[in-house]
Amino acid sequence: MTGLDDRFEILLNDRVVKTPIAISAMAGWVDAAYVEARKDHVGAAFIGGYSVDAPTLQASREMAAGGREEFLPDDPLKELERQVERLERTGVVAGVNLRAASPESFREAAHALGDRAIYEIDAHCRQEPMIRAGCGEYLLHHTGILEEHVRGLAKEGVTVSVKIRAGVAKDDAALGHRLWKAGASVLHVDLMDFGYAKIRQIRNTSPVFLIANNSMHSFDRVMEMFSHGADMVSLARRSDPDTLAGIDAAIARYADEFGWFNAPKQLCRGGDVRALTFCCLPVKECPLIPTLSRLGVSREEYIRMKQEAVRGTPLESGEYTCFGSMAWCCKATSPCMLRDSSMQMAGLTTKEYMRLKRHLSQTIMERIFGGRAEGKQG
Ligand SMILES: Cc1cc2nc3c(=O)[nH]c(=O)nc-3n(C[C@H](O)[C@H](O)[C@H](O)COP(=O)(O)O)c2cc1C
Ligand code: SF4
Ligand code: SF4
Repeated sequence: MTGLDDRFEILLNDRVVKTPIAISAMAGWVDAAYVEARKDHVGAAFIGGYSVDAPTLQASREMAAGGREEFLPDDPLKELERQVERLERTGVVAGVNLRAASPESFREAAHALGDRAIYEIDAHCRQEPMIRAGCGEYLLHHTGILEEHVRGLAKEGVTVSVKIRAGVAKDDAALGHRLWKAGASVLHVDLMDFGYAKIRQIRNTSPVFLIANNSMHSFDRVMEMFSHGADMVSLARRSDPDTLAGIDAAIARYADEFGWFNAPKQLCRGGDVRALTFCCLPVKECPLIPTLSRLGVSREEYIRMKQEAVRGTPLESGEYTCFGSMAWCCKATSPCMLRDSSMQMAGLTTKEYMRLKRHLSQTIMERIFGGRAEGKQG
């Protein structure tokens, strides 16, 4: 990829995402027209929520009667087809936020729309009628059913997202791991009042694509999420064009300067598992050792993993650095003349160095968590 496409290096549902900002669902408001008016500053959008079967449609009618805005088309799946078709023309990666009471209903939606959209299961809605219909937050109290929904959709070969509200299930990080194992590729988390620590906990248990949501309308808050494990942020209530444009411009500037827009903090400064890319050889008592044992990775495996991953790349060099290779070197924001001169000798700019560290971190994540079948929980 070149130019703008490789600024963030994100593919979602096999499509290039032009900025790591999404619009989060608001029933009755967020449809293709809503996204069209904001398309220049978002990379993905989750339209809906749409209720797609009899129990959830009944719940939507009750909610509408109670004064809430709801989408209540005559034929929800036909309407979704029209909406997704329109969304596809915006250049924004399409997601549909769905409410359904059975795995069959989710599968029917998948048959209607195919792989044109990401299927987001609404396990978030806390309105009584939706909970009674066995959807929304009900699923966070009945996680086995939620996993069944995920498995059913994943079997259809489509990309699955789950929208959750943090603090409702017993253990969000453990749930994130199980949902990823069941086939979810995206976890979309409304953080409520929880801070970045929640994002880090979830990141440390799987390589799922992680979207942080709730009040993501300042650059500082967005960067806190990115540096603790989020791959994207999403906005609902403040998804006005001005707010989106401001955040988009700030993230793009940061990415153009530092190369890795969501680089983690170093592990000893509170970074998440991706920070192993910046870690030293395991030669002293520091957070690296307990992190490796929690992940079930021996010191020898860790050393081999990094050595193999940098072989033949510029990060392999660096004989004058602390450990003889930039594989073990710190984040570019930690000043170091030894590393800087090694980068210079290898012809690397700061941005390229950080990009290579990102690729190293991706390889480390793949090795640690493996495929869904044999992934480990950290
Ligand atoms: C009016 C309204 C409707 C919403 N409808 C949905 C929905 O249908 N499905 C869903 O997953 N979240 C829904 N949400 C939650 C938002 O997507 C988002 O998680 C929440 O508003 C927090 O993010 P924010 O601070 O960016 O608004 C709704 C929120 C609002 C305000
Ligand atoms: S190995 Fe180095 S970077 Fe990693 S936690 Fe220890 S001191 Fe920090
Ligand atoms: S050479 Fe500098 S950047 Fe590399 S490990 Fe040592 S202190 Fe860190």
